[in-house]
Amino acid sequence: MNKNVLLACVFVVCKSLCAQQQGIHPGEVWPDTKGNHIQAHGGGIIKVADTYYWYGEERAQGLDTGFRYVSGYSSKDLTHWTFMGDVLKLTDPENLGAHWILERPKVFYHKAAKKYVMYFHLDNHNYKFARVGVAVSDKPGGPFSYVKSFRPLGLESRDIGQFIDDDGTPYLIFESRPSKGFYIASLSADYREVDKQISFIHAPLEGGAIVHYKGLYYAIGSALTGWKPNPNKYATAASLAGPWSDFKDIAPPATNTYQSQSTLLLKVEGKDSTTVIFMADQWRPATQWDSRYLWMPVEMSGEKLWLPEPKPWKLNVKKGTWEYLEQK
Ligand code: DGJ
Repeated sequence: MNKNVLLACVFVVCKSLCAQQQGIHPGEVWPDTKGNHIQAHGGGIIKVADTYYWYGEERAQGLDTGFRYVSGYSSKDLTHWTFMGDVLKLTDPENLGAHWILERPKVFYHKAAKKYVMYFHLDNHNYKFARVGVAVSDKPGGPFSYVKSFRPLGLESRDIGQFIDDDGTPYLIFESRPSKGFYIASLSADYREVDKQISFIHAPLEGGAIVHYKGLYYAIGSALTGWKPNPNKYATAASLAGPWSDFKDIAPPATNTYQSQSTLLLKVEGKDSTTVIFMADQWRPATQWDSRYLWMPVEMSGEKLWLPEPKPWKLNVKKGTWEYLEQK
């Protein structure tokens, strides 16, 4: 074998070994199964049968700037992710003009209709349009087709989040600046409309994320500081409709949530235990393709929730357990 071929082989093997990383490394480059840094920013995750699907903002370099893209990844273990492709590739759907915005896509699976229904924040360059966009697909890997845009409950909507309760009921979380808070709303029977207000949380927070754990609802949000991180906070309630407690810090405030911003709380229920993962973005606004993910299991007990200092860890989805990776 000539030397160049040998070197190429070594490179391919190294690349795939890197992709087969051991666990989850908060804040580091996260290679997909082909070795490319995952592009699923401001994302959401659903589980269908035994597969997890992660959708998010595709911000790779070199994309056609006339489009906005949502990427999709699949995984059985929440650690090794296979790129399914850009499941939505959209041109300006509402004449929003240059620098229009598609952010924080979230997909819900409608089991009876066998449809994947995507919501995203749709806006113009100065965030005045403030609507959600909806797109639909028959398959998790797309292609998703644009359906429409609207203001949920007739209200301005910017950051959106998703919450699926234990009985499978889907909810959209959306931040509304004029009301200085965020809404939790149920969806219509076909998931394509936002139906009814379930709760309004009077706190100026975005990046809204909710989980139901041991009989209590926990809501996390981040302050309105653009791409800059801030101390994210949480509140609890016995019912989704509230009343909600006051908001408290999820981590030492000086760390600014370890330089991250909430996007989802993911509950992994296994046969031995349940792990709740705080999923957050470490934004790099000048080099968005290199923005990182901070995923860490949170400690929860009664009305307390705490984000431990991020360190590499590994998850066992079957058991629902996690442990720190040994540091070399
Ligand atoms: C914070 C939001 O959470 C992000 O999704 C994005 O809209 C930035 N603001 C823009 O400044």
